[in-house]
Amino acid sequence: MALFEVNGLTKTFGGLAANRDITMHVEAGEILGLIGPNGAGKTTFFNCVTGFYPPTAGSIRFQGRDITGWPPERVCQVGIARTFQIVRVLKDLTVLENVMIGAFLRHPRVPDARRKALDVLALTRLADRQGQIARNLTIAGKKRLELARALATEPTLLFLDEAMAGLNPSEIHAAVSIVRRLREEGITIVMVEHVMKVVMPLADRIVVLDSGQIIADDVPEKIAANERVIEAYLGERYRAAH
Ligand SMILES: Nc1ncnc2c1ncn2[C@@H]1O[C@H](COP(=O)(O)OP(=O)(O)OP(=O)(O)O)[C@@H](O)[C@H]1O
Ligand SMILES: [Mg+2]
Repeated sequence: MALFEVNGLTKTFGGLAANRDITMHVEAGEILGLIGPNGAGKTTFFNCVTGFYPPTAGSIRFQGRDITGWPPERVCQVGIARTFQIVRVLKDLTVLENVMIGAFLRHPRVPDARRKALDVLALTRLADRQGQIARNLTIAGKKRLELARALATEPTLLFLDEAMAGLNPSEIHAAVSIVRRLREEGITIVMVEHVMKVVMPLADRIVVLDSGQIIADDVPEKIAANERVIEAYLGERYRAAH
């Protein structure tokens, strides 16, 4: 049994099918890349599987349990966390307070939540900024803070929506090493990422979305050579990169 399974997931907005009949799975321990052009439906997929949008059709299973239609808090409670493409840190709170909000999910007592938050801040290399007000962080810092808050909920499965977008090469390098470390700690990761130099070496497998549908699901080497993927997405990316 796969850790996470989606069957026939469809999400429509009026006449637009942002996700169409998506069937995929995630194995425990893997890093799965989710790629595709702007508007392909990647964020919508994350919103559906983490309870932010009710799917129009289809089912979502986690650890064998049907979680379709569950609200975000309940999805998080069973061990699924996410970050947002547009960061949602609480700007007037400190870095530590932001992470403690995540930690309260499993640690209702303040000292325990604080201890958990400090552990996560060390892992995400934000410990020296724990007292800063979140609004004063750089974009890279805010993205990392959002990751820290998600990690503080102690997820089994983590969805990262463009966690590296807007970061410079050295910030990307740091973020990649954090993702590798999370996997070593046993967290399963699904990541939406536009930077091919990041996702190709990092992912065990890549799913490609185009116009709401899966057009490929394979190991990175096969994805890089897949004609349909090159035509829909990679061609344009590779041209942009060179
Ligand atoms: N809440 C919404 N209401 C109406 N349409 C939406 C909503 N959310 C997304 N869409 C539409 O669904 C389609 C898929 O959008 P989505 O944000 O999922 O794409 P994406 O693959 O994440 O793109 P990007 O790479 O730009 O982040 C787009 O046409 C978008 O305009
Ligand atoms: Mg998106």
